[in-house]
Amino acid sequence: MTQQYRVTLLPGDGIGPEIMAVAVSLLKAVAPQFDLEFQFQSAPIGGAAIEATGEPLPPETLAQAKESDAVLLAAIGGYQWDSLPRAQRPETGLLAIREGLGLFANLRPATIFPELLDASSLKREVVEGVDIMVVRELTGGIYFGQPKGIFTLETGEKRGVNTMAYREGEIDRIAKVAFEIARKRRGKLCSVDKANVLDVSQLWRDRVELMAQSYPDVELSHLYVDNAAMQLVRAPRQFDTIVTGNLFGDILSDEAAMLTGSIGMLPSASLGSSGPGLFEPVHGSAPDIAGQDKANPLAQALSAAMMLRYGLDQPQAAAKIEEAVKAVLRQGYRTGDIFSPGARLVGCQAMGEALLANLGS
Ligand code: IPM
Ligand code: MG
Repeated sequence: MTQQYRVTLLPGDGIGPEIMAVAVSLLKAVAPQFDLEFQFQSAPIGGAAIEATGEPLPPETLAQAKESDAVLLAAIGGYQWDSLPRAQRPETGLLAIREGLGLFANLRPATIFPELLDASSLKREVVEGVDIMVVRELTGGIYFGQPKGIFTLETGEKRGVNTMAYREGEIDRIAKVAFEIARKRRGKLCSVDKANVLDVSQLWRDRVELMAQSYPDVELSHLYVDNAAMQLVRAPRQFDTIVTGNLFGDILSDEAAMLTGSIGMLPSASLGSSGPGLFEPVHGSAPDIAGQDKANPLAQALSAAMMLRYGLDQPQAAAKIEEAVKAVLRQGYRTGDIFSPGARLVGCQAMGEALLANLGS
């Protein structure tokens, strides 16, 4: 029997609509091969939503996302909205949908494609074989802690405040996700914090230690975030699964992404304890190349694959898209961000067509 899924599409801003179009064409192509049927419904978020409704996450968008089986997001943001009050900025819409869907676990794999080894700014022998999963806590920490704001002191001087806070329960649930993932990978988990300075990190470390007792098969280590940032570029192969809080995860996942040559290659999955997951590339909306057919759609394609694998439990359809990505790289197709001499330089649409050709529909 045909399995039907309702998928909310959030193309967003900048290159978002271009790369989303590619992902949708791939999903449409794999659907009949695995007896799936997608009902796609687009909704505005970010700058596009600000223009349409004045808000970066209209209530209708959140409501529709909640009613769907999965949410596929492209990217949000652009210079023209950067000076708006924080509540109306595109980024606020992204944080609000993560919070609104309860997506506390953000999975960001950084895997090297052998064909792109020379696209990395690091030496081949350093990055060869890198396969890291960053598990970032996504709905807590300094992004959401109270108090926050810019306050005026009695002297008239302004003081900006954010609060890095984690409750035990918040740490436990992300730690559990990370241990489960590490167990299915190479059985190594590195928890990253700043426990030499921050109390919130000490609690983080204590709770992760406690959780480790239930996972004797997983080898747990701890690193301070400054050291972790250094180790990631010094010897990235030492890492298997990394678990860390919201801010450190934001930073380290960009760094891990760059090991692979281009942040334009990396997908992510954001999951809660129930309800639809949200799947999006790690990269941003790249307003400088928007509308020029230059964007790399591969992270978006891989996000659609993550949606199939982690959101809809369709691992075979996911593998099909992942194989198509590997195939186009083998065939030498490259967008500008991953181009090296001798390769076939293509735009976003042509890359999409090359992917489709490899899906063999
Ligand atoms: C990310 C982005 C977002 C974040 C921004 C756009 C709010 O950098 O998804 O990593 O900081 O979480
Ligand atoms: Mg980021």
